[in-house]
Amino acid sequence: MEAYNKTPDHVQLYDLMFVTLFSEKQVQERVRELGAEITAQYKDKRPLFISILSGAFVFASDLMRAFDGDCEVGFVKLSSYAGTRSSGSVQTVMGLEKDLHGRHLIVVEDIVDTGRTLHFFIDHLRQQNPASICTITFLRKPDAAEFPVAVDYVGFDIENRFVVGYGLDYEGLGRNLPGIYQLR
Ligand code: XMP
Ligand code: MG
Repeated sequence: MEAYNKTPDHVQLYDLMFVTLFSEKQVQERVRELGAEITAQYKDKRPLFISILSGAFVFASDLMRAFDGDCEVGFVKLSSYAGTRSSGSVQTVMGLEKDLHGRHLIVVEDIVDTGRTLHFFIDHLRQQNPASICTITFLRKPDAAEFPVAVDYVGFDIENRFVVGYGLDYEGLGRNLPGIYQLR
């Protein structure tokens, strides 16, 4: 049996059934709006988009193409220190080769859940004296917040339920779905 089974309004990945939360069209419209807002703020600043791997690579790719001006992109991979999920820090597994001093950074996340990833990563970036740091996430689960993070741009606030698609995965699958699907 295939692990992936998709119809117009739901997708099954392994044992789990997901239903459509945002269609591809809704996703793309929101990305265009966010791109226009970021363009208005960063047009002449040559921002560096920092995409947090793996999930955010899809959103970052669309977002930077919705940005109308000079920009660069870099990637980081973060992982948790051993320890409890709620108290652990995060570690940079694959870092940026670029010098961040004096740069305008736009940190791109797929989803902010507890806020832990962004909280620790922003702290880490601040130590490298960038000119500015802003954060953008495609999705946010406000009811799951545990760490203080000021997110500057949010695509959609959603319920505290597991979602896949548009870069987000369940056991590695679902990242290629162009919309967002929520666990039924
Ligand atoms: P924190 O708690 O650090 O979480 O804000 C952010 C990271 O957790 C993962 N995450 C999810 N991944 N569906 C996913 O596929 C979800 O509903 C979900 N919620 C959190 C994700 O890797 C994100 O970067
Ligand atoms: Mg994941």
